[in-house]
Amino acid sequence: MKEETKIVNSQLDGILERYSGHAMELIPILQQIQGVLGYLPEAAMQRVARFLKIPESSVFGVATFYEQFRFTPMGRKKITVCRGTACHVRGAQQLIETVEKTLGIEEGETTEDQEYTLETAACIGCCALAPCVMINDEVEAKLTPKKLKGFIERKGDEK
Ligand code: FES
Repeated sequence: MKEETKIVNSQLDGILERYSGHAMELIPILQQIQGVLGYLPEAAMQRVARFLKIPESSVFGVATFYEQFRFTPMGRKKITVCRGTACHVRGAQQLIETVEKTLGIEEGETTEDQEYTLETAACIGCCALAPCVMINDEVEAKLTPKKLKGFIERKGDEK
């Protein structure tokens, strides 16, 4: 067994031992797994299905229904493009496309080197400075595609 799989399994042991195995515990278990691992690996969902004695398709169905769950690991840097109304009318879509082209990922995905994740948000609270993007916890305001590309390339240098 790969070392990484062993670590995930031991973390799952620690989580599942707190539950009785009732199907109603599905969502809290998934939330806790995501809280610990940062996402829901397929093997973890299969194991939850066995633990709760419900079909894997039910676990996948519930997990994909709720937006809070993610199925790929989060990158070290999270780029959140605001797609709220103010940002939308000032070019949020072009910013999303800039990130997609620069990093070769789509919304909700992480680059292969686990460096970046692209997400969007409904509003990040600085509409007067639209369009806005958050890179980790820092808000970058009044962005153009060119400026955003520059930010990504510079942040990429800060390893
Ligand atoms: S709409 Fe983008 S910050 Fe509010």
